[in-house]
Amino acid sequence: MPVNKKYYILTFGCQMNNRDSEIMAGLLEQEGYTQASAPEESDLVVLNTCSVRHSAENKVFGKLGDLQQLKQRHPELLIALGGCMAHVPESVQRVRPQTDIIFGTSSIKDLPRLVREAASREHKRPIIDVNTRPVVIGSELPSRRGSAVTAFVNIMYGCDNFCSYCIVPYTRGRERSRAVHDIIRELCELAEQGIKEVTLLGQNVNSYGRGLPEDIDFAELLHRAAAVDGLERIRFTTSHPRDVSERLIAALAQEPKVCEHIHVAMQAGSNKVLKRMNRRYTREYYLELIERMRAAVPGLAVSTDIIVGFPGETDTDFQDTLDMVEKIRFDSAFTFLFSPRSGTRAAAMQGQLPREVKQQRLLELNRVQYGIAAQKNKALEGKILQVLVEGTSKSDSAMLSGRSRSNHIVIFSGGKELTGRLINVRITEAKTFSIFGQAQL
Ligand code: SAM
Ligand code: SF4
Ligand code: F3S
Repeated sequence: MPVNKKYYILTFGCQMNNRDSEIMAGLLEQEGYTQASAPEESDLVVLNTCSVRHSAENKVFGKLGDLQQLKQRHPELLIALGGCMAHVPESVQRVRPQTDIIFGTSSIKDLPRLVREAASREHKRPIIDVNTRPVVIGSELPSRRGSAVTAFVNIMYGCDNFCSYCIVPYTRGRERSRAVHDIIRELCELAEQGIKEVTLLGQNVNSYGRGLPEDIDFAELLHRAAAVDGLERIRFTTSHPRDVSERLIAALAQEPKVCEHIHVAMQAGSNKVLKRMNRRYTREYYLELIERMRAAVPGLAVSTDIIVGFPGETDTDFQDTLDMVEKIRFDSAFTFLFSPRSGTRAAAMQGQLPREVKQQRLLELNRVQYGIAAQKNKALEGKILQVLVEGTSKSDSAMLSGRSRSNHIVIFSGGKELTGRLINVRITEAKTFSIFGQAQL
């Protein structure tokens, strides 16, 4: 067991990676490593990477450059690159000379062994362990959770949807669900540790249960999760519009612990573009789905992802997206420039658009969506929202922050002892990106 060795993990990308980093941290601590407060103080730096867009990979290339300088001063420093980039051959070629270990999303539990091998210096650098074995990580692995109040819980891994722009099915492998008893065991342990809110994670949570021996679907999993004593709130992400079932909508409406928020990616508002994206729904279907969910679940907040500048997207197609955004009035939206990912179908499609056109469309979309979010947030002023206090605010350490059931982040003043409590907060000022309130104690 190494003595006095320190690690530092830098996480890029989505909640899946955040959760994986917690497990990597747990595994390294089991090996005797302790967490460093900066890469400069570390013996091992792990980059848990994302390849969903070119910009995500660029951040990692930049960071690796910084780490090379550090390594010149500390030649003993080990650099490990894990996560989705490890599954992209071009990226691996580029990072090889700068890394000691490259490990894929299915090799997380092997990290301690790979670190030992790299530290022993008997192996040629980098040591590469990348495969897409259909690994399901159960609750047997240790983890160092990032919060004492909220927790992410994987319910499934991988994705079989193959949207034509998306690299995730190649980096995370085929879709597989975790056994229900294992998930519920983890939820019970979290509740015992004092966790109040869990977010169930998967690329397409609505297809949970497919391929499992037991007869279970996502709605049933929500009911079972809601029965775990001690948990106060249940969230989930992300949902594919095509797989949102009536049973899921009913669970959202019926289970008091399941929060009134759904993230359901629209991606585009034009039927032609949706078809080319292989999303397998139409704008009419999506619109009707949102109406149906809003009618069944009063106060439901809806967030989404939208891509602009998909190959072949005309001005008219883009106007269709704006039209949907105006009709639906999302509570929030993550908006992206289409980024061609090698190996995906969309990267090879005719009609790739110039960067300026994509950027112009993104600006226009954001102008419309931010206006809607500002109006919707403004309407919260004077209202009282139930907030789960998560701790001090990241933007102002003198303030507390927490989330409403609708997933709005609310900032307010109060003592740290409120952390972990569900309290009522009166909204005093709501802007596009920040909402302030006053605790009603
Ligand atoms: N499984 C989730 C779903 O379908 O809702 C999405 C997961 S993906 C990691 C997050 C978002 O990144 C997608 O919803 C999409 O909007 C965006 N995205 C994926 N590939 C992209 C690409 N090549 N260019 C731009 N945005 C992309
Ligand atoms: Fe990517 Fe589509 Fe799977 Fe989401 S559903 S991860 S966008 S392939
Ligand atoms: Fe997530 Fe990025 Fe991989 S969004 S699944 S870390 S490609």
